[in-house]
Amino acid sequence: MAENLTDKKDIYVLGIESSCDETAAAVVKNGREVLSNVISSQIDIHTVYGGVVPEIASRLHCENINGVIRLALENAGMGFEDVDVIAVTKGPGLVGALLVGVSEAKAIAYALNKPLVGVNHIRGHIAANYITHKDLEPPYVCLVVSGGHTHLIVVRDYGSFELIGRTHDDAAGETFDKVARAVGLGYPGGPKIDKAAAGGDPKAMEFPRGEVKDHPYDFTFSGLKSAVLNHINQMKMKGETIRVEDLAASFEASVTDSLVSRTLRCARENGLNTVAMAGGVSANSALRKAMQDECDKAGLRCLYPEPVYCTDNAAMIASAGYYDFLSGRWDDESLNAVPDLKLSAD
Ligand code: KG4
Ligand code: ZN
Repeated sequence: MAENLTDKKDIYVLGIESSCDETAAAVVKNGREVLSNVISSQIDIHTVYGGVVPEIASRLHCENINGVIRLALENAGMGFEDVDVIAVTKGPGLVGALLVGVSEAKAIAYALNKPLVGVNHIRGHIAANYITHKDLEPPYVCLVVSGGHTHLIVVRDYGSFELIGRTHDDAAGETFDKVARAVGLGYPGGPKIDKAAAGGDPKAMEFPRGEVKDHPYDFTFSGLKSAVLNHINQMKMKGETIRVEDLAASFEASVTDSLVSRTLRCARENGLNTVAMAGGVSANSALRKAMQDECDKAGLRCLYPEPVYCTDNAAMIASAGYYDFLSGRWDDESLNAVPDLKLSAD
């Protein structure tokens, strides 16, 4: 079945994503051309609780997934019979949420007798760059910054990844969300801090740039988070008003410095001239600008996906699934969700 497919000129992958709070499906041609990209976000519901409630997420995926897949096929002008491969996020993520997508994908693949590929969500975020940048090919450095992950990676090949640095505590996106909550901006915090910071002074407050002893490529954001919370408490105790714009811009300057400096050092030390970013936080305006400016100075190419492909979506899963499929990395009916799936795991 699969051998015949690799001889086929064009390969259409149906991608399914349900690892957190977006139910998503997409059809992607040859890993790069998006024919449809449907995302049903649960954010409004989780906002009421100030964060993602896992059981609610699973139930909503269950309720919405059939409709989302139907719409993705309809928007692509295709039926199930036109799809060649079913790709689904198998991890990392919330186990109950992942199981909805995995079970759905298994049922579709079984009913259609088509190949099934379980995709690593982090590799999916990286693959979002192939959709936006049609000429991008490994090797390159990729900074993955999302709600759950902060990984500095050398992408050696489509299926070969070397983890160079990672966070020792909170992920970058998690830090944005916590700081936003502390200043009353609500959930999800990243886009709200981004907007507020646009009108602020990044030098107004001096927040720490976290370093991890003996691990120059690793990240730590807990000291920064505490410094911001202390600042807020002190201002409240003195009865002074907090300038949210300045706080947001100063906080972003600290996060951005940590992320950009390590990413550029990684590119330099590995002799790579392309730097890519991925994940929800790579939609951040200050981070994009700082990374672009530093890459320009160093003569490096700086890439990031269009905003819709930075946050969770199924087109990136279909793209990563396409490359997994081409390299023979597909699954059988025993595919299961792996909530703590590592980047290097097959
Ligand atoms: O990649 P993603 O959708 O989900 C995970 O795999 O975690 O990332 C979500 C995270 C959230 O923490 C959100 O606050 C953050 O990405 N985010 C942003 C921006 N847009 C989303 N952070 C900073 N600036 C943004 N514009
Ligand atoms: Zn994600």
